[in-house]
Amino acid sequence: MSTAELLTDLHAEVPLIGPSLLACDFGNLQREIGRVEEAGARIIHLDVMDGHFVPNISFGLPIVAAARRATDLPLDVHLMISDPARYVRPFREAGADLLTIHIEAVPQPRPLLEEIRSLGAAAGITLNPPTPVSALEDCLDLCDLVLVMSVMPGFGGQEFDPVALEKLRRLRELVGADVLLSVDGGINSKTIQLCSAAGADLFVAGTALFSQDDYGRVLREMTGLARSRKDVRT
Ligand code: DX5
Ligand code: ZN
Repeated sequence: MSTAELLTDLHAEVPLIGPSLLACDFGNLQREIGRVEEAGARIIHLDVMDGHFVPNISFGLPIVAAARRATDLPLDVHLMISDPARYVRPFREAGADLLTIHIEAVPQPRPLLEEIRSLGAAAGITLNPPTPVSALEDCLDLCDLVLVMSVMPGFGGQEFDPVALEKLRRLRELVGADVLLSVDGGINSKTIQLCSAAGADLFVAGTALFSQDDYGRVLREMTGLARSRKDVRT
């Protein structure tokens, strides 16, 4: 499938919940991916951390490759690493469909976003809570996805920072409807409606999903909440 077809499919499924595998049972990775897929997930979020850009190490290429073998769902790979330019090609080859880099790691991201697209993946940019939206303005035309961090990246289970809401609203004005607007960190049944009303399309959820037994129930509930706020907004 081409990137254009992938993005068309994803836009048609909005609002999307992106299960963040960071919170799953890695001893049963294949089973966990099967469970979220069966529960109705349309995309999987993978958090790559290098212990340098963020103060935590999560996983790298072998886990992305294992996820690729376990599912045909799009893999949304969030690179929390200091030198993404060195790794976009290997992560694409491991199976990433969307590759998101941090503006704090790559202050001049245009060449790398172009490279991600040339590798046949969707290109994403993200920003930490203290970073202003203005830092992204020069590169938004090269982005298929913009991810707003609603926690400082590095760990799951943190509390949602409402600074993300004004950024989502501003970005929704700046980017066209063909750009996926995503939010990551502290997303649960209380915060998802606020983010949806602010314009988000894709809601990354780790703890809120994997801490529950019935993934289907959580996905349905969160999707319903996101949709209801969308209806109010539009
Ligand atoms: C944070 C990661 C998130 C994280 C979200 O650094 O980018 O994707 O897994 O976890 P929750 O949903 O628990 O905040
Ligand atoms: Zn993430």
